[in-house]
Amino acid sequence: MALIAPSLLAADFLHLGDVCKMINASAADRLHLDVMDGRFVPNISFGLPVIEQVSKVNEKTSEVHLMIVEPEKYISAFYKAGAQTLIIHLEACTHLHRNIEEIKGYGMKAGVAINPHTPVSFLKDILEDIDLVCLMSVNPGFGGQQFIPHTLEKIRELSNMIRDINPGCEIEIDGGVDLDNAGSIVNAGATVLVAGSTVFKAPDPSDIIRQLSKIG
Ligand code: DX5
Ligand code: ZN
Repeated sequence: MALIAPSLLAADFLHLGDVCKMINASAADRLHLDVMDGRFVPNISFGLPVIEQVSKVNEKTSEVHLMIVEPEKYISAFYKAGAQTLIIHLEACTHLHRNIEEIKGYGMKAGVAINPHTPVSFLKDILEDIDLVCLMSVNPGFGGQQFIPHTLEKIRELSNMIRDINPGCEIEIDGGVDLDNAGSIVNAGATVLVAGSTVFKAPDPSDIIRQLSKIG
């Protein structure tokens, strides 16, 4: 079984208050908030004002996934907006260790995301300092894409590394997670599943969250 983090990106933005209520009442463990800048990824999503409002009503752990260049410039701003976990991309950081220390300095949990082409081995020297690895199982920038199967091997490799270096570190899988592939993702070693379209394009999102939370 894994923790479930619905991604707000696929939700109906005209009814974010109702969406938050549904998530609060659901089996979800976290709320995953995707921030895109049109530079690190070829898309723009939502930013600080939306996260600030959502944080006022959200009762689940809020994790902000920054798909932006120079994320270090916005660590304090996302902390103030309500982020409890801040996930930054390895590919976007020249001084990843310093940025992680700053995130933790605010009392937030620190996560590092890697793109599909980035080897898991690149995490070796930062693994002991972080709370979560977010393995991208699609190319970041859009919801509703197909899960990249090679991610399963990366999960297994990361699981082994984590066992040796930092057993408390979570393995989160982000992109293309659905009811059909969630079992093999959890069996490979994932501990947190992000799910956008699978949850929000369904007639009963809360039921999908419940089903996902029982898998594995
Ligand atoms: C993609 C985002 C994901 C996205 C997942 O760049 O990081 O969190 O919302 O959406 P689905 O589950 O639809 O692939
Ligand atoms: Zn994400």
